[in-house]
Amino acid sequence: HQHLLGIEGLSPLEIGSLLDLAEEQIAVSRQIEKKKQTLRGRTQINLFFEASTRTQSSFELAGKRLGADVMNMAVSSSSVKKGETLIDTAMTLNAMRPDILVVRHHAAGAVELLAQKVECSVINAGDGAHEHPTQALLDALTIRRHKGRLDGLTVAICGDIRHSRVARSNILLLMGMGARIRLIAPSTLLPSNIECYGAEVFNDMRTGLKDADVVMMLRLQRERMTAAYVPSIREYFRYYGLDEEKLALAKPDALVMHPGPMNRGVEIDPLVADGPQSVIREQVEMGVAVRMAVLEALAQHLPNSTQT
Ligand code: CP
Repeated sequence: HQHLLGIEGLSPLEIGSLLDLAEEQIAVSRQIEKKKQTLRGRTQINLFFEASTRTQSSFELAGKRLGADVMNMAVSSSSVKKGETLIDTAMTLNAMRPDILVVRHHAAGAVELLAQKVECSVINAGDGAHEHPTQALLDALTIRRHKGRLDGLTVAICGDIRHSRVARSNILLLMGMGARIRLIAPSTLLPSNIECYGAEVFNDMRTGLKDADVVMMLRLQRERMTAAYVPSIREYFRYYGLDEEKLALAKPDALVMHPGPMNRGVEIDPLVADGPQSVIREQVEMGVAVRMAVLEALAQHLPNSTQT
């Protein structure tokens, strides 16, 4: 592939190979082994039209640990503020001949549109409620390192599924790899085409969490909601917030995950977020290794690549 636009379109074999490659990058990502030079002489531009802490910084570190020249485009102080369009911005950057563009945008499909206009490789770092493929890969790597496998596991994805690109990419990846997916949310926070997902759907945490191997919490994305249906925080936490009592319904060794940023006390109790079953910080750490793997895999398809 020239681009990574989504989990959709990747085969289970390709996903498994990316996870294996990410596993090999962990020592370098942790700086136990020295920096690699796979991307030496290559230019990576991070173009984020939406806020990010984890994704942008881990893509920057991943590129640097592979020897790339990495530039972070500061969108908030760019000519986007003067009305330049997404495509004009991308064509302008394209004219400077980068090798890889890492793009986050608030509109679903915007990254794919951009990929059709530029000559370099494009990585989707999150487009609206559509996909966030590297998040699903780092989640899968974290799960696989703890459970030794993905197939046969029961993964409960809970909360604001309607607005979540993380949920969509995770459903595609984990179901493709043989996991059972349960989606737990109030009906207002489920996508309208929920039956297309092929997952089991629950409105009640108590039934949905029973015997789950993994509990993946999602942020309530209030910025994407119209005021009319933003739930009351106190009520939301009572019914859908993960606290110790609800977590006790899952398997005793169930992993607690959250892609971040977390709303403590809204979808997750701080005691659980910081508790012994939480792998939330490890997810962040795996983000660097996974993004190194994706960059390295795409680098093999860049023109004039010396890779085999
Ligand atoms: N999980 C995630 O994408 O976090 P950021 O929005 O901070 O990048």
